[in-house]
Amino acid sequence: MSKILVTGGTGFIGSHTVVELHNAGYEVIIVDDFSNSNPKILDQITTITGSRPEFVELDLCDEQKVKDFVAKNADITGVIHFAAFKAVGESVQQPLKYYRNNFYSLINLINAFNSKINLVFSSSCTVYGQPDVLPVDESEPTKKAESPYGNTKQIAEEILQETCAVTPGLKVTSLRYFNPVGAHASALIGELPIGVPQNLVPFITQSAIGKRGPITVYGNDYNTPDGSAIRDYIHVVDLAKAHVAAIKRLESANASSNYEVFNLGTGTGSSVLEVIAAFEQSTGVKLNYTIGARREGDIEQVWGNVEKAARDLNWKAELDVTEMMRSAWNWEKYLQENPF
Ligand code: WQD
Repeated sequence: MSKILVTGGTGFIGSHTVVELHNAGYEVIIVDDFSNSNPKILDQITTITGSRPEFVELDLCDEQKVKDFVAKNADITGVIHFAAFKAVGESVQQPLKYYRNNFYSLINLINAFNSKINLVFSSSCTVYGQPDVLPVDESEPTKKAESPYGNTKQIAEEILQETCAVTPGLKVTSLRYFNPVGAHASALIGELPIGVPQNLVPFITQSAIGKRGPITVYGNDYNTPDGSAIRDYIHVVDLAKAHVAAIKRLESANASSNYEVFNLGTGTGSSVLEVIAAFEQSTGVKLNYTIGARREGDIEQVWGNVEKAARDLNWKAELDVTEMMRSAWNWEKYLQENPF
């Protein structure tokens, strides 16, 4: 049985991926430092899957500790690397924190495996900036990132591509997520923002349950049909399944090179106002919102061309915005009854 290391495996996308790896018959070991997640998620994963994943608390920025961990776990056949700081706004305020954490952890991991490992890297559509062509495909050039967070994703992709070019034993797949939202159908795991949610959907669910005031729609004067900004929202469970597909491709000999990039989205854009309407329709809960000014650093519209993942990963998103909203709401209601 293949044993997959999931770094950041108690986080939002990481925890859902651990569940899907289990469902696909993989053995999993999680490392996390709980800097942006809650240890209770390990109990939740255990309840969902029926078996407790192996776990080691580890700071991936500590080079020696990472080497010791990898030496003690020589049966790891692949890595899915989620562990990174990812708050756009915070990265603007604390750039060095982001560059240090996101690069030290990645480079320590690669070095600890002596550059001989199958690695799935958590990247982001943010590397495209505002694309000139929509839907955006993987061949589109990246643009100057709007934030240090986005820059860490761009530079990490370059580090991986350049290292793979001279390191045949290192096989890497960078997955460019669009906007991950929603929660597991059990409502036992989901997004756990710390403090006031910066992202749209957790703010919607917290506003709907009364934890927050009205939603502010950041701008309705964009050049879009209803004036609000458009994103490609993807259900976190679909996203998790794509990571299993990526690991399977790395384990096969099918990859055309030892460095590949895939967009992970639905291929469909939804505006902020459409997401709000979808939430109200799927939950029956009326939302209060006001129209505010545009948010600094936001792009106007983006959605992904997802044909490459369909072809090469044999994967496509199956859950629609209605299910994304319904599952996010069920998770918020679960949290109200079972605060972490
Ligand atoms: C979506 C839309 C906002 C909040 C970022 C990162 C991306 C990924 C996901 C990490 C935008 C609007 C939001 C609100 C609003 N990060 N909005 N009112 O900015 O597209 O992507 O988070 O994995 O890499 O770039 O996501 O959810 O913050 O915003 O109107 O209260 O909702 O302006 O148009 P974003 P988001």
